[in-house]
Amino acid sequence: MKTVSADQVLSVISSSVNLKGCYILKDVSFAACSGDLLAVMGESGSGKTTLMNVIAGRQTLTSGKITLDGAPFGKQLRRRLGYVLQNDIFFSNLTLWETLYFTAMIRLPERLSREEKLKRINEIVDILDIRKCLHTVMGDMFTMGLSGGEKKRASVACELLTDPDILLLDEPTSGLDSSTSLKLVKQLKDFAVTLNKTILVTIHQPSSQTYHLFDNLLLLTRGQVAYFGKGHGVPLDFLGKFGFTCDALYNPADFMLPSERGLISKERLAGAYRLSAFYLARTVSELPLTIVIPTLYFAFVYWMAGLNDVTAFFMTWPILVLSVISIQVTIKTIIYAFI
Ligand SMILES: Nc1ncnc2c1ncn2[C@@H]1O[C@H](COP(=O)(O)OP(=O)(O)OP(=O)(O)O)[C@@H](O)[C@H]1O
Ligand SMILES: [Mg+2]
Repeated sequence: MKTVSADQVLSVISSSVNLKGCYILKDVSFAACSGDLLAVMGESGSGKTTLMNVIAGRQTLTSGKITLDGAPFGKQLRRRLGYVLQNDIFFSNLTLWETLYFTAMIRLPERLSREEKLKRINEIVDILDIRKCLHTVMGDMFTMGLSGGEKKRASVACELLTDPDILLLDEPTSGLDSSTSLKLVKQLKDFAVTLNKTILVTIHQPSSQTYHLFDNLLLLTRGQVAYFGKGHGVPLDFLGKFGFTCDALYNPADFMLPSERGLISKERLAGAYRLSAFYLARTVSELPLTIVIPTLYFAFVYWMAGLNDVTAFFMTWPILVLSVISIQVTIKTIIYAFI
């Protein structure tokens, strides 16, 4: 990579996003400086992706503002930003090399010669350690190709090509094992420190080692900031004030964001409720979706197959829905029996 970024401060100030009368983000404020690796954590649905979208300009703010060194973070300044989405989107038949080559040719400025663009690709390939899979196809669910970790690094590589000063990554480690996640976050940390870039990463349940690489932590809950500050020690002191103490041997990230499975186990041990009660509540809350999806599918397929008998349709529909529910019930019973 070529440029070391100048010092800069990205500030999100009292920002809110309200969709259909419901706050997805509410009064979110924090700042990230150059050289910082900031972790954005929070339970599923807490607004992490929405926050990334807002910073990237893909989602408009209802109120509040985002600034870079005090100047509004508009279209012009956003050119200095790279965004790695939660889901990788690639042409599955292209090799990694072809993907990087086309990205470089399309996204890098015309003033750079072909040789300079190729040099940039090679630098990034080495930074992210993906040389050995350069000639492997990207692949998808039908075609064998890059592994999950390599594909994530490929997404990061496509964004790094443009040499952004600010890099947003939405769950770059999801689906990766802990050692691959650690390797990726270490690479991001090196990148932030050596080239003075600002990097924001949303992450679910990092391992202790990965967690300790982050300089700062933004903890979101239901669209609001529960904690923003140093990642090491301080959040635990902060939670300690409210009576939540973390065992020395416990992963701080797990402690702050207990998984559903962990939560159920704890609550069951405390005798809070029976497993059947949890399971019943969950099934009931998911029931509308369980009914709507097969109904839509059945209605579509039924008429497409040329079966025009309305009475038969309404007689078959409950059988289909009950079959779907009973299959789900069986699967969930098996899964929760192992909790
Ligand atoms: N268009 C929309 N209308 C209403 N609510 C929405 C809309 N888009 C997103 N939401 C809600 O906003 C909330 C935050 O979504 P977001 O994708 O930011 O969560 P997240 O923290 O990234 O979750 P995850 O960890 O599962 O990716 C969710 O509850 C989601 O259902
Ligand atoms: Mg998300």
